Amino acid sequence: MNGYETELQEDEHYMMYCHWSDDLGIIQVRSDIMDNQIDPRIMDNITKTCICRAIPRSKIKDAIRKGADSVVKVNEVTGSGSGECRGRRCGLKIKALIDGYKSGEWE
Ligand code: FES
Repeated sequence: MNGYETELQEDEHYMMYCHWSDDLGIIQVRSDIMDNQIDPRIMDNITKTCICRAIPRSKIKDAIRKGADSVVKVNEVTGSGSGECRGRRCGLKIKALIDGYKSGEWE
């Protein structure tokens, strides 16, 4: 893929992405209602949990599945938390994913 995607806004029901192409400038702005319209695996692959390091939620979830049961352990395995903000933006999101896994919210 030539270009990159950036997450503009996310909540439980709404997500918007911009896709930039090096050749064409902004070529796509897409928003989707998340209520079962998009495969959760796709959402995990395109949603960056650690924005500074561009680490997708899928990589964070894989680390948690493999036993990383704290934010520190997830950071050690994935490299999250080592970006410019030093984990201020991603730490709470990672903690929520760990808690969700422990409570059976996702597997
Ligand atoms: S968002 Fe993860 S280090 Fe900044």
